[in-house]
Amino acid sequence: MRPERLLLLGGTREAVALARALDGHPDIETTYSLAGRTRRPAPVPAPVRTGGFGGADGLEAYLREAGIGLVVDATHPYAEAISANAALACDRASVPRLVLHRPPWARGPGDRWVEVADTARAARALPALGKRVLLTVGSRDLTPFLPVPRLRFVVRSVEPPAAVLDPDRFEVVLARGPFDFDAERRLLESRAIDVVVSKNSGGTAARAKLGAARALGLPVVMIARPPPPPGERLESVAAAKARIEAHVRGR
Ligand SMILES: NC(=O)c1ccc[n+]([C@@H]2O[C@H](COP(=O)([O-])OP(=O)(O)OC[C@H]3O[C@@H](n4cnc5c(N)ncnc54)[C@H](OP(=O)(O)O)[C@@H]3O)[C@@H](O)[C@H]2O)c1
Repeated sequence: MRPERLLLLGGTREAVALARALDGHPDIETTYSLAGRTRRPAPVPAPVRTGGFGGADGLEAYLREAGIGLVVDATHPYAEAISANAALACDRASVPRLVLHRPPWARGPGDRWVEVADTARAARALPALGKRVLLTVGSRDLTPFLPVPRLRFVVRSVEPPAAVLDPDRFEVVLARGPFDFDAERRLLESRAIDVVVSKNSGGTAARAKLGAARALGLPVVMIARPPPPPGERLESVAAAKARIEAHVRGR
């Protein structure tokens, strides 16, 4: 039997780890898919397809043309459009689909989280909470924060911000995790940060800022995850690998 063609929708550490874990599997042929937002994506041992598919219709056509037998949606939990497109395209093309999303962070003792539903509400919550903000929502979700008056922001992101920022109010720190507690604490203290804004991404690479905020008694505006895509969800690379292998065995 020919190897199963797997489309791995990526852009996360877990997706990279899964591609590496499946490398060399005799019955699986992985294509790794990226939107193309990151200048230097992590290397993966699989052919990489870069750029959108053209919505659900384009993705459906791609699945059929490439003979894809399984889709793994290992995109970021906040990447709503591609996950919705994948769900629709897989349904239409009758291709099974798994979702790999790492678990969210949970509030612990000493945490001062203000949980909000989205970035717009995060921006509205800020003036009551502080004056100097560490904003870690990614380079493309800054728009709701631009008009908030009288606040100063340190924007930390992997890629340069998509929006034009007033340099008097916005300092940009380009950095890619993993970050550690001491460095996060130094960042917060050196900029006199008094409130942090974060998505609830989960995982270990970006978690240290939460511990540093807790240690300094700072509030964290935590933007809730959007509803997950439908279908079977796995929370670890090992579980996803095992599930994929079971799928391949059961063909
Ligand atoms: N959103 C975040 O906070 C976040 C954080 C870290 C990493 N990422 C990663 O960054 C990428 C883009 O995220 P996003 O939130 O901008 O996505 P999105 O809003 O869900 O997707 C917008 C469009 O980008 C294309 N796209 C997104 N992910 C793709 C993928 N893996 N392969 C091929 N095309 C993709 C699709 O274009 P077409 O409709 O043309 O197919 C999609 O409709 C994803 O790979 C995601 O895992 C996102």
